[in-house]
Amino acid sequence: MPIREIPTRPYQDQKSGTAGLRKKVAVFQQPHYLENFLQSIFDVETSLRGATLIIGGDGRYHNREAIQTAIAMAAANGVRKIIVGQGGILSTPAASHLIRLHHAAGGLLFTASHNPAGPDGDFGIKFNIAGGGQASETLTGKIYEQSTQLTRYRIVEGTSLDLDRRGAQKIADTDVDVVDSVEDYARLQQSLFDFDRIREWFKKGGRLRFDAMHAVTGPYAKRIFIEQLGAPETSVMNGCPLEDFGDGHPDPNLIYAKHLYDLAMSADGPDLIAASDGDGDRNMILGRGLFISPGDSLAMLAAHLDKLPGYKGRLKGLARSMPTCRAVDQVARALGVECHETPTGWKFFCNLLDAGRLTLCGEESFGTSSSHTREKDGLWAVLAWLNILAVTGMSVQQIAQAHWQRFGRHYYARHDYDDLPVATANAVMAQLKTASPNLIGQHHGAWTISQADEFSYTDPIDGSVATAQGLRIVFGEAARIILRLSGTGTQGATLRLYLERYETGVDALAWQNNEALAPLAIIADKLIRIAEQTGRKTPSVIT
Ligand code: G1P
Ligand code: ZN
Repeated sequence: MPIREIPTRPYQDQKSGTAGLRKKVAVFQQPHYLENFLQSIFDVETSLRGATLIIGGDGRYHNREAIQTAIAMAAANGVRKIIVGQGGILSTPAASHLIRLHHAAGGLLFTASHNPAGPDGDFGIKFNIAGGGQASETLTGKIYEQSTQLTRYRIVEGTSLDLDRRGAQKIADTDVDVVDSVEDYARLQQSLFDFDRIREWFKKGGRLRFDAMHAVTGPYAKRIFIEQLGAPETSVMNGCPLEDFGDGHPDPNLIYAKHLYDLAMSADGPDLIAASDGDGDRNMILGRGLFISPGDSLAMLAAHLDKLPGYKGRLKGLARSMPTCRAVDQVARALGVECHETPTGWKFFCNLLDAGRLTLCGEESFGTSSSHTREKDGLWAVLAWLNILAVTGMSVQQIAQAHWQRFGRHYYARHDYDDLPVATANAVMAQLKTASPNLIGQHHGAWTISQADEFSYTDPIDGSVATAQGLRIVFGEAARIILRLSGTGTQGATLRLYLERYETGVDALAWQNNEALAPLAIIADKLIRIAEQTGRKTPSVIT
């Protein structure tokens, strides 16, 4: 098997966003496109030489081809050992766990998360570093730099690995181990949760409906919920991963998983309804009669964390991304633990997790996880809820009501304006940024603006500074309006507007979410004038 140096010309568009490099499949299929990006990683991340590399993906179209290329290039670039999920399958949290478990120097995750898949859909690569977390902006910057000036890449020619056969194989001097995609991940979950109590809960008639949305979590959910926890087969729907995700959009939220909302609202629905996304890092939680917003889910998990075996007496700190509602702050205050506010993107939690400052963290975008891995973890959140239901004997509804009574409630919504012309979206941001200093002190109904600024973050561990992380208009504890530009879109620009309103006492239980937020939406319209500036009367998506 000869190692070849293939001459290549650089592409100029290989800049990773907050979630890796994401492009249309057709872009990745251009000659040497994938190879160039991979070579840039191998050139920059020299620690991979002589070390272990984890490889896997969410199973979408082009996954297998990309993985074959990655293995042949890793071998040519001196990686000593490659561990790859069987069939090329690894969920994002499972890959992160394998990096940690095997002290690997990194991992290549082939995923475009919840973005639609198939020949006309999206493809993506994420490089995760030793320790399991996502590459820093400095590192992705260096990889990008390298990709703009690359002249050759290295590959072992004529290889074809049997991705379906578990066990050891060899490519040139590199050992390749094809491993069960689920086993180690399932073992990790067993170490955190009380599987006996959950099994009992199922035995007593507790009912779960988990939608794997034809994406990566199918095999994980079947093994853990059905085989290990004894849930009936019907508990997992769409459990077979498909290359085009069944033509669906595996983004579990109130739009793309509306059928789950309807199921939750139906008479005699299951006790817990949940879903995960394309690569298994997101989660959506519903109970009979209600949807639990991700910010609420984070706060409720925090309040009950001590009941879970892996976390008893171990709660160090809590964290949320800036646009995520401040429900978890209330719990942190009550428990007397530190609470961090980080920019959007999971990587900002990782330094805190590594430093032992953080146990549980989450984002409004349906991401929750803990110190057990360095990615958000969809099935982890479902298991945490199952464990809490099993231990408390309460329903999701009862847990939520009790929580809101004790801590107050944050009504919350995110409005997305997708596929805007970049200049238009930038102009909306610029307009609000300029206006911000003059907004402080303004009264709007019963609320007064106490703060209006652009969020920037100094990492408490390494002192690095992230600027321009979103504009916020804060009305004390009572409400917030936040505006930021998405960093993950693949087409045009996406503006995200976040609305949050806090109420205690009877008002915490009195309203429907959209009723409570209506006055805030009017204020946002007055202050930001998105409709006027973009010509969009309504958001593309409300979640
Ligand atoms: C979105 C979410 C963010 C998440 C990221 C990757 O990023 O808002 O919370 O970390 O996807 O899954 P955005 O498009 O808003 O930059
Ligand atoms: Zn994802």
